Amino acid sequence: MPKKSWNVAVVGATGAVGQEMVSILEERKFPVGNLKLLASENSVGKYVFFEGHDFLVDVLKEDSFKDQEIALFSAGSEVSRKYAPLAAKAGCVVIDNTACFRMEPDIPLVVPEVNPEKIAEYENKKIIANPNCSTIQLVVVLNALMKRAKIKRVVVSTYQSVSGAGSAAMEELSKQTVAIFSNKDIEVEALPHRIAFNCLPHIDVFLPDGYTKEEWKMMEETSKIMGVSVPLTVTAVRVPVFYGHSESVNIELESAITVAEAREILRDAVGIKVVDDPKNNLYPLPISAAGEDPIFVGRIREDKTVPHGLNLWIVADNIRKGAALNAIQIAEILIQKYL
Ligand code: A2P
Repeated sequence: MPKKSWNVAVVGATGAVGQEMVSILEERKFPVGNLKLLASENSVGKYVFFEGHDFLVDVLKEDSFKDQEIALFSAGSEVSRKYAPLAAKAGCVVIDNTACFRMEPDIPLVVPEVNPEKIAEYENKKIIANPNCSTIQLVVVLNALMKRAKIKRVVVSTYQSVSGAGSAAMEELSKQTVAIFSNKDIEVEALPHRIAFNCLPHIDVFLPDGYTKEEWKMMEETSKIMGVSVPLTVTAVRVPVFYGHSESVNIELESAITVAEAREILRDAVGIKVVDDPKNNLYPLPISAAGEDPIFVGRIREDKTVPHGLNLWIVADNIRKGAALNAIQIAEILIQKYL
């Protein structure tokens, strides 16, 4: 007889992604037994709402994972580096939303629509990595097209919302916007420059070759998830949007996929919704994607400068499909097939 429920710990439960994880567990009726909500000392006395009750948040400690079975981590790489191995040792399977373990060869990096079979490799270290938000929405689309034609090269420019940088960055965008309209001093703390009414071509730290770590993550993670080397170049930009990452994507293919075929392939793909009706001004928007599960694709058109080129506009809720939803989809497959 299948096990009825699973003890789940959420690390970073007071954060933007952690809170979404808790609400998606409820929404998708994940069979949660004992729910443990963990955060830092800052959250002592705070509650998080789940299934009609307020749950008191606990301070994360080395022994927090005793009796837990699944641990969803979203409290930053440093927390994962220290506590994810402790959680695994205590008997949990960790699904880690940070960049900490993503490129480790024996840790699977999973997007359920693309490489669900890799979840089996959880056994190696009892850790499964959840990819970067902007990578997830890209690979689901590339994977669908790649079934029809090989990909020669991809050029991506991202327009990433502030929620991807956490609660502090969201608050900063709000406060700066209010400060500008009330002629007050503008404080810059969470992001490298003012984000209100601005765009920052700078997400995460700069690497010696001039790319940012965010750009590097997308380039490296894409090939790991797809299981083939995908030549990809990226410019990642933070924009003053609260929820929803957008991507302008140029794909050069080895053989032709017409615009009509691309639309059909994407319409049939699991997890994707095509919104592509320019005559009626319909195309994906972050404000429409916010709070939604699918990856939205539109502005599908031919790139006439190369033999087999396509241009796409891809938008998804970075906190949901880009983070919390993807992690819980992994957990669902884990309990259905492997635990
Ligand atoms: P807290 O709210 O107590 O600081 P966001 O990405 O939205 O900023 O959220 C980060 C999440 O990670 C929050 O829940 C935060 O808890 C948690 N967190 C950050 N640092 C630690 C830490 N050292 N130990 C436990 N939780 C942490």
